[in-house]
Amino acid sequence: MSTWPGVIEQYRNLIDLPSGAPVVTLLEGNTPLIPAPRLTEEIGAASILIKFEGLNPTGSFKDRGMAVAISEALYRGANAVICASTGNTAASAAAYAARSGLKCFVVIPAGKVAAGKLAGALAYGAETILINGSFDDALRLVTELSAHKPLALVNSINAYRLQGQKTAAFEICDSLGNSPDWLTLPVGNAGNITSYWMGFREYADLKDTGTPRILGVQASGAAPLVTGSTISDPETIATAIRIGNPARGEQAKLAVQQSNGMIVAVSDEEILAAQRQLSGEGLWVEPASAASVAGLRSLARRGDFDFRGQTIVCVCTGHGLKDPEIITDHYHPDPPIPARLSDLERRIEY
Ligand code: F0G
Repeated sequence: MSTWPGVIEQYRNLIDLPSGAPVVTLLEGNTPLIPAPRLTEEIGAASILIKFEGLNPTGSFKDRGMAVAISEALYRGANAVICASTGNTAASAAAYAARSGLKCFVVIPAGKVAAGKLAGALAYGAETILINGSFDDALRLVTELSAHKPLALVNSINAYRLQGQKTAAFEICDSLGNSPDWLTLPVGNAGNITSYWMGFREYADLKDTGTPRILGVQASGAAPLVTGSTISDPETIATAIRIGNPARGEQAKLAVQQSNGMIVAVSDEEILAAQRQLSGEGLWVEPASAASVAGLRSLARRGDFDFRGQTIVCVCTGHGLKDPEIITDHYHPDPPIPARLSDLERRIEY
């Protein structure tokens, strides 16, 4: 029986990690590419597939990068790691640190992290520090702190994070035999778009798989890469990408330019509509993840591109369970009924 060994062992030769480094893994990666037939029909593409990264061990794509970053931190002899986070990085760092016996500190914006992510960080035992400030403030603080304290910084400004996250591009090419025509994904701090572009280019050089056009999607209240300037008070219901000053913004622009793609902004309403659309296909993803689909729909509506005959992969970066309140906040059930068949029959007129 051959089992999936996690992203480091699966792609060992292609990952820049010192050969003596221990491998910390929760068997992340190997996520499915799930067809979205209704979305395919709406857009008029040949095929739209969802790379469902919410099926990673802690429910987001961050686990790919965290496996490598934590392995490297251990190799360096670190005793503790730290990160700023809008939530998913925190949960992932907490899990991989727990796995490897490292202490973990996470710094998050108070009141702006979805319930499932905060619970994850706490469940895995991270020291969780709330700040009265934004993710951008948190990242600035942890960067300054880790420069003079023995703390390994595991945000995506850590290059090892990208080494892990680029494996998603490898997996897509392995599944399809080639790169897709388009890849769409949400953009926050811009580590993931940088990772995908790196992964596709490396595979293209090695295996002649070609490269996709990259469509990066930001929320319109937090779209510094669309407006062209830093945003001091970003706001969006997609709290995962509520970021006004992306650390890898320049690399994101390069990825889009070199791939002949683009970066677009979508409204919170478009994000929620895309989330509903995906739920209608049986895929519940968190709001930031739905942005990748919202961006594609918006581009299709504008008619700037002809998607006929195209294979499109939309990356859905995190599971819907991460942010249950975005759904339940709008759910107002009727009062309970008596536990009697007649009452249930009256209630269900079907
Ligand atoms: N989607 C989700 C679900 C995320 O959690 C993030 C980033 C992104 C997309 C954007 O990825 O930052 O590489 O451009 N979350 C970070 C965090 C910021 O702290 O969890 P990016």
